[in-house]
Amino acid sequence: MDIVVSGIRSTGNLHLGNYFGALKNFVKMQNENKCFFFIADYHSLTTHPTPKELHSIVKNVLVEYLASGIDPEISTIYIQSNVPEVTELYFLLNINAYLGELERCTSFKEKARSLPNNINAGLLTYPVLMAADILIHKANKVPVGKDQEQHLEMTRQFGNRFNRMYNCQYFTEPVAYNFGEALIKIPGLDGNGKMGKSEGEGNAIFLSDPPDVIRKKVMRAVTDSGPKVMNQPKPEIIENLFTILNAVSTPDTVEHFDALYNNCQIRYSDLKKQLAEDIIAYTEPIRNRINEISKDDEYLRKVVNMGTEKARESASKTVREVRQIMGFRDF
Ligand code: TYM
Repeated sequence: MDIVVSGIRSTGNLHLGNYFGALKNFVKMQNENKCFFFIADYHSLTTHPTPKELHSIVKNVLVEYLASGIDPEISTIYIQSNVPEVTELYFLLNINAYLGELERCTSFKEKARSLPNNINAGLLTYPVLMAADILIHKANKVPVGKDQEQHLEMTRQFGNRFNRMYNCQYFTEPVAYNFGEALIKIPGLDGNGKMGKSEGEGNAIFLSDPPDVIRKKVMRAVTDSGPKVMNQPKPEIIENLFTILNAVSTPDTVEHFDALYNNCQIRYSDLKKQLAEDIIAYTEPIRNRINEISKDDEYLRKVVNMGTEKARESASKTVREVRQIMGFRDF
């Protein structure tokens, strides 16, 4: 059986990008594989949440994972910081991760550019912690969006380097997993690249957004003055709306608006109205479950305890074996 590891940083509520990038087809995913879903709260520390907000953000992500349909009886769902074996493996991998390759990592360069006063070592070694998350369960499939491709490549590099260094075939190579489809990038609504938790106001649609907020955000999405020549490729900001429409609407609806676009008859306000209603319908069951589950602290405590136990069982086996390979012995 294949082993799947999927992680989400706890820096805010889950949005449509997280959902379609990492959680889509989760029912199939968790029934066909051994799945570990976790909340990367250590990763979120690299941008320094306050002690006051840390717990509530972790709770939100936990609730939204469960509301998306992850079944804690079938899958293992846990919080990264509850599994100390991950940080042990992180250190053991760190000694074979080199400054040059970490500095060349695109996400590090972007963060260093946007937060020049906070280029901390955790940010630099972020990909090593991510590799530890994946290798700790010896996962071979990792459902991620396009933005995590490079991190995954680095994970393969660290695992292979460990194998070479200690002359063993211990770690397998994890690959990105999207049910045979290309990795996706859900764009933001503001015309600025990808949908993200920390992008500007109005960029992201969150799973917890109420219908009126979704309508407002979608109606404000950036568009242009419309096509003037028939059957032309769409500019990026328009293509973005179609990408989201494709994710949440029926093929007929997409075809309908595509044809209007190609005939230069499209009215963006109609497209946006339809898109907003389809997002609302798609997310409604999730929203309802978020409201129910977030009130049930006892259930959440049970889920976390169960997940910690299952995750530690798998993680401690790996760390024990890795230590042995590296030459640690009991007295
Ligand atoms: P994070 O928290 O930024 O995003 C979580 C998951 O959602 C995907 N994603 C997207 N997919 C498509 N379009 C988007 N606009 C979009 N935005 C986010 C991400 O690709 C990711 O799959 N470093 C990771 C967290 C992590 C992790 C791991 C993931 C830590 N350890 C181990 C997998 C395995 C991150 O910051 O994701």
